[in-house]
Formats: sequence, C-alpha cells, structure tokens
Amino acid sequence: MTPTAVATGARTGRTYLEVRGLTVTFDGFRAVDGVDLTLIQGDLKFLIGPNGAGKTTVVDAITGLVPATGTVDKTGQPVLGMKTHKIARMGIGRTFQTASIFEDLTVEQNLDIAAGSGRGWLTLLRRRRGRATVVAEALETIGLEHLASTKAGVLAHGQKQWLEIGMLLVQDSDVMLLDEPVAGMGAEERKATGELLQRIAAERTVVVVEHDMDFMRDFATSVTVLAAGKVLAEGTVSEIQADPKVQQVYLGTAAATGTELETGTELEKESGE
Ligand SMILES: Nc1ncnc2c1ncn2[C@@H]1O[C@H](COP(=O)(O)OP(=O)(O)OP(=O)(O)O)[C@@H](O)[C@H]1O
Ligand SMILES: [Mg+2]
Repeated sequence: MTPTAVATGARTGRTYLEVRGLTVTFDGFRAVDGVDLTLIQGDLKFLIGPNGAGKTTVVDAITGLVPATGTVDKTGQPVLGMKTHKIARMGIGRTFQTASIFEDLTVEQNLDIAAGSGRGWLTLLRRRRGRATVVAEALETIGLEHLASTKAGVLAHGQKQWLEIGMLLVQDSDVMLLDEPVAGMGAEERKATGELLQRIAAERTVVVVEHDMDFMRDFATSVTVLAAGKVLAEGTVSEIQADPKVQQVYLGTAAATGTELETGTELEKESGE
C-alpha cells in the first residue's frame, strides 16, 4: 500500500477484511483449505493460482454463496454465516466471470437500479445525498459518461465489466472482489481497467482474481498465490515471481494440462534473471 492511499483513503478509518482458516468442503473434498488472507484498504491485491486452486470458491465463501468454516471479519464485524444480501449491504461486493447487467436497459438505468438495491442505513444516507449524484460520480469513475444513455447490451466487453464495477461503486461496496475482470479484454481495455482499479483501490479494498501475469505485474500491489485450496505464497510481484514454489505450481500445471504455459514460461524467465 502506498502512503498516499492510506492518507487519502479513510472515510471512517481504514477498512480491512480479515480471513482466517477459511475452509469450504464439497462432498468431503476441501476446495478451500484453511486460507488466511488480510486485505487492507488501499491494497490492490491479486489472488492468483492454477485452475481449480479455489480462487472463485474463496470469493463465493466470503460473499455467502457457499457455506464455509473459519472466520471472515470486515473491520471487526463478523461476515461468515450471514445471508448474501446482508453481506452485500455490509459493503462487500463482487463481480462474476460473466457480466450480470441488464442488457436492455441503459448504462445509467443499470447504475440507478444498483443504487437503489440496498435498504440499509447507508442507502438511506446515500438517497439523501441524491441517487443522481452517486450515479453521476460512478459514471465518471468508470469513464462511461458519454455512453450513459446507451443500452448496456451494445457495450464492448470491457465496458460491460466497467459497468459492473460501477454498480458496486453505487452500492457503496468498499470491499470489491473481482473474478477475472480482464478475461477476454484486449490490451488497451486491460490497461484502462488496471488504471480504473488503481483509482478505486485507493479508497477501497480490492481483490482481483486473475490468470493474466502481465496484468498482475503492471497493477498488483500485493499477491497471494493459491494452490490446491491453500495459500502457497504471499508477497510483492517480484517476490512471487522469484518463488520456486510458485514456479513449480505453474510449470507443473503447464506440463500436466498444456494450459498456463505462457504464464509458467514468463515466471521462469523473469526470476531466472
Ligand atoms: N459447487 C461445487 N461443487 C463441487 N466442487 C466444486 C464446486 N465449486 C467448485 N468446485 C471444485 O472446487 C475446486 C476449486 O474451484 P474454483 O472454481 O474455486 O477454482 P478457481 O481457482 O476459481 O479455478 P479457475 O481458475 O478455473 O476459475 C475445483 O476442484 C472445483 O472443481
Ligand atoms: Mg475461478
């Protein structure tokens, strides 16, 4: 985390999410096995790992979509065991690998609906400030002001992801868990998305689940590597790239399935220098 992020970040003190011993079992199979994660406001944390490592399941567990054991606290408040809508109202938002927007409505209407979706006191406060203001701010942040009246269905792939992020912004999510937000994006869209995430992460806690190593290298402030449901390594991008355990996992995956080859090669190449 940068000092600037800390200095400019706090609304009511720094938000953090503390995950301890998170475990998810599917029919006796531990998809997530005792995961500890500490997410601090201002951090743009990347959660990486091979296919099936448990990344999405971690996000599902934190957001209440699958039952889990262990603890998840948001700035001291327990999260685990609450219903999904309550967790969302606590300010923990997530995106899915496939965009979940209303394609027949305009960009602005999508944001407007998202802004009215909560009924907690935060929503009431926000209404007093004016939903229009909140929506306008989000449109500016995600860079879609010029497309406010365009139907969401005709947006480019990247723009749909930005709209989804905007929907979390208007819901006042200060913890955002984004599942592969740049999958299928071209180079320019990736760069724009990374810059958007940097802006957002200054005031929030952002976790990006990702496969794209170039993207991680350019934008991560910290990285956690999952493998077989467990935390394999944690650190800065260069620490992660230099970690033999991480290289092993990626190269192993590449050899076994033919996927992630580029990733493994890059990790090997960079850390060998
Ligand atoms: N609902 C479920 N029922 C049974 N097994 C599941 C379920 N969801 C996930 N799994 C299994 O749990 C493991 C972790 O899956 P998960 O989707 O979290 O991995 P991931 O790291 O997100 O992978 P990817 O990079 O492919 O998205 C996998 O072995 C998967 O098959
Ligand atoms: Mg996944």
